[in-house]
Amino acid sequence: MAAMATATAEALSPAAREFAQGGPQLLVIGGERVEAADGRLFETIDPATGEAICEVAFAGSEDVERATAAARAALDGPLRKVSPSKRAGLIYALAELIKANGEQLAELESLDNGKPLAAAKGDIAATVSHLRYYAGWPTKIEGETIPVSARDVLCYTVREPVGVCAQIVPWNYPLLMAIWKVAPALAAGCAIVLKPAEQTPLTALRLGELALEAGFPKGTLNILTGDGSTGAALVDSPAVDKVAFTGSTVVGREIGAKCGRSLKRLTLELGGKSPNIILPDADLDRAIPGSYQGIYSNSGQACNAGSRLYVAHELFDEVILRLASYAREAKVGPGLDPETEFGPLISEEQLERVRGYIDSGVADGAELVAGGASGDGNGAAGPAGGGYFVPPTLFTGVEDSMRIAREEIFGPVLVAMPFEELEEVAARANDTEYGLAAGLWTRDVSNAHKLAAMLQAGNVYVNTWGGGDPAAPFGGYKASGIGREKGHANLDAYLETKTVWVQL
Ligand code: NAI
Ligand code: MG
Repeated sequence: MAAMATATAEALSPAAREFAQGGPQLLVIGGERVEAADGRLFETIDPATGEAICEVAFAGSEDVERATAAARAALDGPLRKVSPSKRAGLIYALAELIKANGEQLAELESLDNGKPLAAAKGDIAATVSHLRYYAGWPTKIEGETIPVSARDVLCYTVREPVGVCAQIVPWNYPLLMAIWKVAPALAAGCAIVLKPAEQTPLTALRLGELALEAGFPKGTLNILTGDGSTGAALVDSPAVDKVAFTGSTVVGREIGAKCGRSLKRLTLELGGKSPNIILPDADLDRAIPGSYQGIYSNSGQACNAGSRLYVAHELFDEVILRLASYAREAKVGPGLDPETEFGPLISEEQLERVRGYIDSGVADGAELVAGGASGDGNGAAGPAGGGYFVPPTLFTGVEDSMRIAREEIFGPVLVAMPFEELEEVAARANDTEYGLAAGLWTRDVSNAHKLAAMLQAGNVYVNTWGGGDPAAPFGGYKASGIGREKGHANLDAYLETKTVWVQL
């Protein structure tokens, strides 16, 4: 039986402590908290200590059958009868409940994921605004009348919910990534089976409870906790109409192949190796802190992290000097410590993976100017004892062909390279299988738009990094994904179009 470290438990509010210690935390199926059919459990780990927080039900294929059946029953029953304005009200009520429970949710997120509490609070605020945005949509889902040329025909379209949706999300922004998918699906009138990452199951389970409290019919939002085998069983289920996935490109390709065979609807948000370009006329007082945040926020565990930095050659030394000094001063520690600016990585597996990349950079001849695998390089390091800490790490002397410059590391590792010309840097920036994000810093409005047009990425940031809004579409070119999340683009991904042809 898992037991949380005393110091950790003491850092939590009573509501968060009660939830985290009230385990084992059970699945949410058809409006009930239930054990996995075979009674299996797994532990969720505090990445700041490496110790277990609590036990969580481990859903298997029988649970997938139960949850998809509950979703189908909701869809064919009570959910169908919920009017658009009532649906809007329910989504808004869920937003208000998340806000009201914001402290508990932020603490659970910080505990389970490791991110600083202030960052977790930001995630919860973004979750609330996301729901509020999609609460505006149910009353605005309109069909069209089509001016067909056949005589005496009334032809019109209606938009219908796509059906039962399997939503599989990662651990880096656990609740926010869930809501990016849940909110548009609810707005469209779909029923959902949500599968949070095995590293961070807690806030999704609380979300399942809050959706019931908000008044959604039982079975509208089911939560299955488990690992990749649970996700795979969902993707394989014939009861699922649409799959939405955020995670690694490897798993995304596999899910895409399966959905190609079964012809399930599909959206994918995958990895990146996003270029960030500082042009010769950039305002360095904005570009340097902005680029720092662009790679190191969330300890580098963001799909749109600006992980390849290209600096105009004449600015290179100054930029590196200033970035390295920020990196060395970062306060690395547990997310629940109010002093912490920079939390641990999510898991031992990610720690090993990121350390492996740092070692490969050193072996390939790149120069480590801050951070490093052991954290002994240059100041910033994690607290002593367990926990999966890697400090902000910066490499120079990097070739475009090195693994650290080509592969997604998904950790706090930045590779910096100088460049000479606009066309040259655009070509190097685009020389990757990915295309999620790209950024550039300049005072020249003409170069800003020229380069923005040249960059092959679903999101281009000019004089900022990572800006976003529920209304603004987000997604990837190339191997970074299929489809867009957020905005009306993601609403469309949860709707089918029916054309009705009436011979008068
Ligand atoms: P992952 O892609 O294996 O896991 C993401 C989600 O998919 C989790 O909920 C997981 O349980 C589920 N999953 C795993 N295998 C599955 C399968 N075969 N079928 C259906 N669902 C499955 O990512 P993981 O292992 O946590 O991280 C590995 C690497 O993936 C990271 O180092 C990073 O490069 C990348 N990644 C990218 C993310 C992004 O936001 N683009 C988020 C998380 C990881
Ligand atoms: Mg965890």
